[in-house]
Amino acid sequence: MRTTSLISLGLSIASLALPSQAIELDLSNEASIKSAASTVTYGMMKYYHGNETGQTIGLLPWPYYWWHAGAMFGSLVDYWYYTGDTSYNEATTNAMIFQAGPTADYMPENQTKSEGNDDQAFWGMAAMSAAEVNFPNPAKGKPGWLALAQATFNSQALRWDTKTCGGGLRWQIFTFNNGYNYKNSISNGGLFNLGARLAMYTGNTTYSDWAVKVWDWIEGSGLMTDDYYVYDGSDTTTNCTDPSKIQWTYNAGIFLLGAATMWNITGEQLWRDRTMGLWNATHVFFRDDKVMYEVACEPGGNCNVDQHFFKAYLARWMAASTKVAPFLSDLVAPYLAASAMAAAASCSGGTDGVTCGTKWFSNTSDLTVTWDNTWGVGQQLCALEAIQSNLITKVQGPLTNKTGGTSQGDDSAGSGGDSDPTKMKKITDADKAGAVILTILVLAGWVGAMFWLII
Ligand SMILES: *[C@@H]1O[C@H](CO)[C@@H](O)[C@H](O)[C@H]1NC(C)=O
Ligand SMILES: *[C@@H]1O[C@H](CO)[C@@H](O)[C@H](O)[C@H]1NC(C)=O
Ligand SMILES: *[C@@H]1O[C@H](CO)[C@@H](O)[C@H](O)[C@H]1NC(C)=O
Ligand SMILES: *[C@@H]1O[C@H](CO)[C@@H](O)[C@H](O)[C@H]1NC(C)=O
Ligand SMILES: *[C@@H]1O[C@H](CO)[C@@H](O)[C@H](O)[C@H]1NC(C)=O
Ligand SMILES: *[C@@H]1O[C@H](CO)[C@@H](O)[C@H](O)[C@H]1NC(C)=O
Ligand SMILES: *[C@@H]1O[C@H](CO)[C@@H](O)[C@H](O)[C@H]1NC(C)=O
Ligand SMILES: *[C@@H]1O[C@H](CO)[C@@H](O)[C@H](O)[C@H]1NC(C)=O
Repeated sequence: MRTTSLISLGLSIASLALPSQAIELDLSNEASIKSAASTVTYGMMKYYHGNETGQTIGLLPWPYYWWHAGAMFGSLVDYWYYTGDTSYNEATTNAMIFQAGPTADYMPENQTKSEGNDDQAFWGMAAMSAAEVNFPNPAKGKPGWLALAQATFNSQALRWDTKTCGGGLRWQIFTFNNGYNYKNSISNGGLFNLGARLAMYTGNTTYSDWAVKVWDWIEGSGLMTDDYYVYDGSDTTTNCTDPSKIQWTYNAGIFLLGAATMWNITGEQLWRDRTMGLWNATHVFFRDDKVMYEVACEPGGNCNVDQHFFKAYLARWMAASTKVAPFLSDLVAPYLAASAMAAAASCSGGTDGVTCGTKWFSNTSDLTVTWDNTWGVGQQLCALEAIQSNLITKVQGPLTNKTGGTSQGDDSAGSGGDSDPTKMKKITDADKAGAVILTILVLAGWVGAMFWLII
C-alpha cells in the first residue's frame, strides 16, 4: 500500500494542477522551498506580540493557549534548522527560556493551574529539538536545551500513575481539572517521544527503559490497536476499558518518531516492525492524492483551535523519523511532497494574499486547491511544517552528545516535586473555576468532533 516509488511521486505532483497558487513552490528547488517557508513564517509571526512592551514573552494572544505557543516555537527551531534563516532565533530563545519558568521545567506559575502533561511536553519537545539541531545555546547561567527536555521528562516520569489502568500518565496534572480522569495518547506519547530522544542524545538507557514502559502500557491499555492505530484516550473511572476511538494526526506522529528513534538506538526488528506499523496506520490521514488531512474534523469543517495545529506535528515527525529510520525515507517523501504542494496552494487568502487555510484539498470538480476562508497560527504552522519538511534530505540528522551536540544537560533537572500542587502557588477558588470552565470548553470541542470514529 505504501510502496509508492519516487517515480510516481513525480507523476502525482505533476497531476496536481494548481493554477491559483499564491505561494510559489518548486520542490526540486531548495531556494523555492526556503522562500515559501519564509513567507508562511512571516505570516505566522504577525500573530506574535509577546516581545512587545507590556506583553508577556512567549505567549500568543487569545484564542491561543500556552501550548500553542510551545508548538509554534518548536516549529521556529525547525525553521532555522531547515532554512538557516536566523530572523526568529532571538524571539524563539527568549520565549523558550522565559516560559520554562522559575523551576526551569515548563511549569511556569501562570500556567500550572490549567496545565496538562501534553502542554508541558510540547514545550519540552521544542527544547529537545533545539538540542538535537544545535540551535544556538542559551546564554550562560540559563538552563540548556537538553536540561529543559530532561526537566520535562523527569517531572512527567514522577507522575506515572499505577492506581488505575495499570499505569499511564493522566492528561491533566491536577485533580481539580476536568480531564484528570482521562489518560490520553498525546500525554503518554510525549513521555515516550522524549524518552526515546533523550536516550539517543545522552546514551542513558534510563530514558529508553521508560520509553519501553510507556509503549507497553499504551499497547496493553488498548489505546494503540494491533494494527497501530492510535486512539485518543481512556477514562480512569472505567479503568480505561472503553477508549475514545477518535484518531488525530499528531498522536500517530508522536509515536512514529519515538518508535523510529528506538529502532535507531536498538537496531531491533521489533522496533522496525512497530515503526512500519505506525507508518502504515497513518493512511487514515491521507487522501488518495497523498495530501494530509485531519480526518476527524476537516471534512465536517468543525476543527477547534487545537485541532488546527495537529497536522504540523505529523509532518514534522514524519520528516524527523526518516533521519533516524532511513528505511522510511522513500515511503514518506511522496506524502510530504503532495501535502506541501497542496498546503502552498491553500496559502492564497487574506489581505496579504498568502494567508494559509485549513483544508489542503478541494471539493470542487476540477480539484483546484484554494484558500478556504480560514486563518490562524495553526493554519500557518501546518503549512510551514509541511513545506519545510521537504528539505529533510538537505539537513543533518539529530545530533547526540557523542556526535557534536553541545547542549548542556542536567540529569536531575525538574524532579523537585512539581507534581505536588501543595508546593506550588496557592490555588484559589477562582483559579479552579477558571480551569474547570476552560476544560469544559476544551472537552465540548472534542466531544463535538467525536462523531467520527475509526473502523
Ligand atoms: C518581535 O519579534 C519579531 C519576530 O522576530 C520581530 O520582527 C520584532 O521586531 C520583535 N519586536 C520587538 C519589539 O522586539
Ligand atoms: C506571569 O504573568 C504576569 C502578569 O501578567 C507577567 O508579568 C509575567 O511575566 C508572567 N510570567 C510568565 C512566565 O509568563
Ligand atoms: C485495571 O486495569 C489494570 C490493567 O489492565 C488491571 O491490572 C487491574 O486489575 C484493573 N483494575 C480493576 C479494578 O479492574
Ligand atoms: C505495512 O503495509 C505493508 C503493505 O501493505 C505490509 O506488507 C506490511 O506487512 C505492513 N507492516 C506492518 C508492520 O503492519
Ligand atoms: C465545498 O465545501 C464548502 C465549504 O465546506 C461548501 O459550502 C460547498 O457546498 C462544498 N461544495 C461541494 C461541491 O461539495
Ligand atoms: C541513526 O540516526 C543517525 C542520525 O540521523 C544516523 O546518522 C544513523 O545512520 C542512524 N542509524 C541507522 C542504523 O540508520
Ligand atoms: C556529554 O555527556 C557527558 C556525561 O553527561 C558530559 O560530561 C559531557 O560534557 C557531554 N558533552 C557535551 C559536549 O555536552
Ligand atoms: C541516567 O538518567 C537518570 C535519570 O535522569 C539518572 O538518574 C542517571 O544518573 C543517569 N545515568 C547516567 C549513567 O548518566
